[in-house]
Amino acid sequence: MDTSRIEQLMARGAAFFGTRYAIMGGAMSWVSERHLVAALSNAGAFGVIACGAMEPPRLAEEIAGTQALTTMPFGVNLITMHPRLEQLVQTCLDAKVGHIVFAGGIPPGSAIKAAKDGGAKVVCFAPAFALAKKLVRSGADALVIEGSEAGGHIGPVSLTVLAQEILPHIHDVPVFVAGGIGRGEAILSYLEMGAAGVQLGTRFVCATESIAHANFKRAFIRAAARDALPTTQIDERFPVIPVRALVNEGTKRFMAHQKATLDRFTAGELTKEAAQLDIEHFWAGALRRAVIDGDVESGSLMAGQSVGMVTREEPVAAIIAELMDQAAAALVQRGQSALQPAL
Ligand SMILES: Cc1cc2nc3c(=O)[nH]c(=O)nc-3n(C[C@H](O)[C@H](O)[C@H](O)COP(=O)(O)O)c2cc1C
Repeated sequence: MDTSRIEQLMARGAAFFGTRYAIMGGAMSWVSERHLVAALSNAGAFGVIACGAMEPPRLAEEIAGTQALTTMPFGVNLITMHPRLEQLVQTCLDAKVGHIVFAGGIPPGSAIKAAKDGGAKVVCFAPAFALAKKLVRSGADALVIEGSEAGGHIGPVSLTVLAQEILPHIHDVPVFVAGGIGRGEAILSYLEMGAAGVQLGTRFVCATESIAHANFKRAFIRAAARDALPTTQIDERFPVIPVRALVNEGTKRFMAHQKATLDRFTAGELTKEAAQLDIEHFWAGALRRAVIDGDVESGSLMAGQSVGMVTREEPVAAIIAELMDQAAAALVQRGQSALQPAL
């Protein structure tokens, strides 16, 4: 299929990353390591390493490992609450990483400045229009807007709405959209709405190059959209950041754990702070357990609603080609329907 017209629609986003396609591989902790990231970049997309809780020397190793597998551009996703954020930025700069993605909150101005002064482009997540404008003023070179359809930690608003609130108004920097994207038709629609490109996570988990455990991949292949639900909090005094994941035994135990912790707090056995920590610690290490060890019963199966569109294990290049072909076919279809007389 000739995808050149879609590539034209992607031109601004692709130029921003120095890639053929404006498709970002959303950073996924434990999954987005050198193999998947290099495969994405080699396929013409933009791979992004998930730094997660890595310390600077470990990140340096992962960047070098990725550089050994690809000569194409890739980025690094840093979580803003990491205690050594500034050192991690420096690690990226030392390794000549061209794009740093700040996730998990609004990055401190000093981190944005350090990244830019060091020659990197800065990408930030904008959870609302007001914050999108603020981030552009603070120096963000591009934005990602991620809807609540996405896998992992999510905000409250769907991409359908965020796209309408933000895309028509932000033109100074490229805006990439994420959350629930599983097919090329959707990619075309968001490009037509003004997105510079897209970011997909869930669709790449089952790539042949992904090191995710076979059990983790099997769970994705079996799951439907309705199985990927956000974690729920049972008491407003103890906030739980919603994480979208496939429901499993761990999810059910989390509800019981919240209830038991609440009971201990009410009985005066725990302070409020201790109870909050106890709830927060429930999922510690759970994503690693599922992705690496294959514990799909009690581990965290973070997945977006697009999981229903993951139907088999296949190479990254095949997934990208399929997405681009679907987008190109949809564009041809649009042209044909425009020529049909209205009934
Ligand atoms: C298993 C998993 C782990 C994730 N980990 C991270 C992360 O460490 N940092 C981050 O910014 N986003 C993370 N995300 C979100 C993705 O980068 C991406 O924005 C999201 O998957 C897009 O939505 P989709 O899954 O519907 O394609 C994660 C998503 C998944 C499914």
